[in-house]
Amino acid sequence: MKGNYIMTFKDEVLSRRTFAIISHPDAGKTTLTEQLLLFGGAIRAAGTVKGKKSGKFATSDWMEIEKQRGISVTSSVMQFEYSGYRVNILDTPGHQDFSEDTYRTLMAVDSAVMIIDSAKGIEDQTIKLFKVCRMRGIPIFTFINKLDRQGKNPLELLAELEEVLGIESYPMNWPIGMGKEFLGIYDRYYNRIEQFRVEDNERFISLNEDGEISDDSSKLKQSGLYEQALEEILLLNEAGNEFSREKIADGTLTPVFFGSALTNFGVQTFLETYLQFAPSPQPRNSNEGYIEPTSEDFSGFIFKIQANMNPAHRDRIAFLRICSGEFERGMNVTLTRTGKSIKLSQSTQFLADDRSTVNNAVSGDIIGIYDTGTYQIGDTLSIGKGKLQYEKLPQFTPELFVKVSAKNVLKQKHFHKGVLQLVQEGAIQLYKTYRMEDYILGAVGQLQFEVFEHRMKNEYNSEVIMEHIGSKIPRWIDESQVDESLSSSRSLLVKDRYDKPLFLFENDFALRWFQDKHPDIKLSNPME
Ligand code: G4P
Repeated sequence: MKGNYIMTFKDEVLSRRTFAIISHPDAGKTTLTEQLLLFGGAIRAAGTVKGKKSGKFATSDWMEIEKQRGISVTSSVMQFEYSGYRVNILDTPGHQDFSEDTYRTLMAVDSAVMIIDSAKGIEDQTIKLFKVCRMRGIPIFTFINKLDRQGKNPLELLAELEEVLGIESYPMNWPIGMGKEFLGIYDRYYNRIEQFRVEDNERFISLNEDGEISDDSSKLKQSGLYEQALEEILLLNEAGNEFSREKIADGTLTPVFFGSALTNFGVQTFLETYLQFAPSPQPRNSNEGYIEPTSEDFSGFIFKIQANMNPAHRDRIAFLRICSGEFERGMNVTLTRTGKSIKLSQSTQFLADDRSTVNNAVSGDIIGIYDTGTYQIGDTLSIGKGKLQYEKLPQFTPELFVKVSAKNVLKQKHFHKGVLQLVQEGAIQLYKTYRMEDYILGAVGQLQFEVFEHRMKNEYNSEVIMEHIGSKIPRWIDESQVDESLSSSRSLLVKDRYDKPLFLFENDFALRWFQDKHPDIKLSNPME
């Protein structure tokens, strides 16, 4: 893509590939990310990203407090160049730091890479993140990892994709053996075999027109595992899904790659094929219709606000996805919500090793803007008339809930101010009970409560009492059907921050019982 000529703005935009990795903890997200960054030369040594577990810190952990805690509070951004493409990987925190930010990050990408541990198959967190990608209709590329270990039968894994996630699949390659007997992958797309643990010059074997090894003396050809792989591929050719670029593009078919991130096997082929099929920045819907990424007027939206938890630095960083045009330091933009004009002088672009200053950022890129409380999640910034507003970001259904109150009753003012601001910022969801107007907070992950508590104390001088009320299932109802006599501890009637009524059900059983008892009340969940 990049020749000896100077890239035009349009070339720059078309060279962008912005994606996030969705997976369950331990499937290999960190390991794969690190290998990709190595290919791109963005990091020099293995272990830079993964250092997290060994006491060093992930490159994505760029805030002091995150370092102290040893976790990445934020979904940060890593950028590298490969073969003329500029790739942005947006980190989706898992483990204890799973939060609404993890979901929101998926609003800012053009495609997703789903990693599945071949021994475990599809796990909880993957399902949740997959649903968000599905809702957006973005392309999903699957990497089935850890083939160097014994895992589930590959055909079974494909069936799981279809049954659990409801997505069609097309294996781009197919494993020959597995675990101790892993010999390599049969590459259906490039019509070659990539051998595992052999000298580099023997790594690839080209296949003949029939898709077989021509050389009869080949050791691999004589192996029973090769025979078995051929039989399975025959089955896939006859009974499997057809390859379809259109279906990949609308997210209804996922290309599947087998490999092993830890041994760096199949990763480069994956990256190269991914870059060919993954979309460049896509048009985005707004109140003025779809905005083309190659349109030259700068615009973007904020999908995440990261507070610096170090009390010595009260600054925050708003993460902005550029949707059109080019960022220039010091440019004047308008914040549509307030109509205010803002000069973007201090911004950072995210790289693997460090926060560095943005030099050129175009549609598809993510920039960080210093924020002193100006921005909210979902805000649109643009040049021009300043009337442009990108589509609202969805609210993600929280699962964990706490009752919260001020420790010091005399400091109610600080308490209310803090809660309202943090809720506005999108750090946490707020609900109020009907009669007592008790505050209930909802979050996707436990970490959101910890961050809330910490920030209330440090930024609003308000210590809070949090009483965990466990996981709940929220279901919204129509205002005309509000009946406070139906509220109980098992089905608690509350209002959300837009005053919309909903029930918090104790569990599935309570939800079903309620539905049976009150079939006339329509319960809804905006995420489903
Ligand atoms: P995550 O970010 O998705 O949570 O996963 P991560 O990459 O940290 O990988 C989780 C564990 O799986 C790590 O082992 C990692 O080395 C291992 N792993 C990743 N890819 C592969 C693979 O292709 N094959 C095999 N066999 N293992 C793989 P750990 O023992 O939990 O961590 P560590 O002590 O090695 O850092």
